[in-house]
Amino acid sequence: MKKIKVWDLPTRLFHWSLVASVIFMFISAKQGGIWLQWHLRCGLFLLSLILFRIVWGFIGSDTAKFTQFVRGPKHILRYIKGKLPENEQPGHNPLGALMVLALLLILLLQIVTGLFSPDENSYVYSGYLSKIAGSNASKIRNIHLVIANVLMLLVAIHFATIVFYRIFKRHNLITPMITGNKKLQEPVPALKFASIVKAIVLFAICAGLAYGVTLI
Ligand code: HEM
Repeated sequence: MKKIKVWDLPTRLFHWSLVASVIFMFISAKQGGIWLQWHLRCGLFLLSLILFRIVWGFIGSDTAKFTQFVRGPKHILRYIKGKLPENEQPGHNPLGALMVLALLLILLLQIVTGLFSPDENSYVYSGYLSKIAGSNASKIRNIHLVIANVLMLLVAIHFATIVFYRIFKRHNLITPMITGNKKLQEPVPALKFASIVKAIVLFAICAGLAYGVTLI
């Protein structure tokens, strides 16, 4: 067994910032009132995060790249049959990759619908683009509320899967998402990691784009 760096810092920071922000979004939505102001601001931060992760999935480190972990049914079947050792695909396994895609897609939908949703209680803290939505704004708000439940369900499945791996498969996935390192059997393919500067520049651009939404 050899300790190998698998997750780069930007992907780990993305993940734990995402977790904190999503939890805050649920709490602030439940609280309502003045909390909605922070719900909107945190929504912009989430938009920056998700834009960053999508682009990082193309120009980031090997284990963050979609082409690296999103594999066809043959690979998924191989993994399910236990014939795809972790050292061959050290990042997300091909089955977990489907959940990663689902989470990213639902999060993106949730953020976009939030931008167009009106605040139907006070009309003070409506989404930045709710005026553009016109007569459809109310329908979009309903979709935003439904997707919030779908997201909660996906997060619950995601969390339960991680706990299942820990308890029943004696496989700790959480520590690598914190430290970036995994202990793997050799041989492990040489992994390329993108530079931190590239990640910072990309995040700054994504944050700028997200802020730009408030100026429309
Ligand atoms: C709001 C809740 C959460 C959301 C939205 C979420 C979302 C995600 C996403 C999108 C990824 C893919 C990361 C990437 O490639 O960029 C991921 C991976 C991961 N998450 Fe979460 N997550 C949440 C909560 C948690 C919690 C509470 C834990 C652990 C206690 C956790 C543990 C992990 C681990 C270990 C991975 C990597 C799985 C692997 O090895 O393939 N997540 N999560």
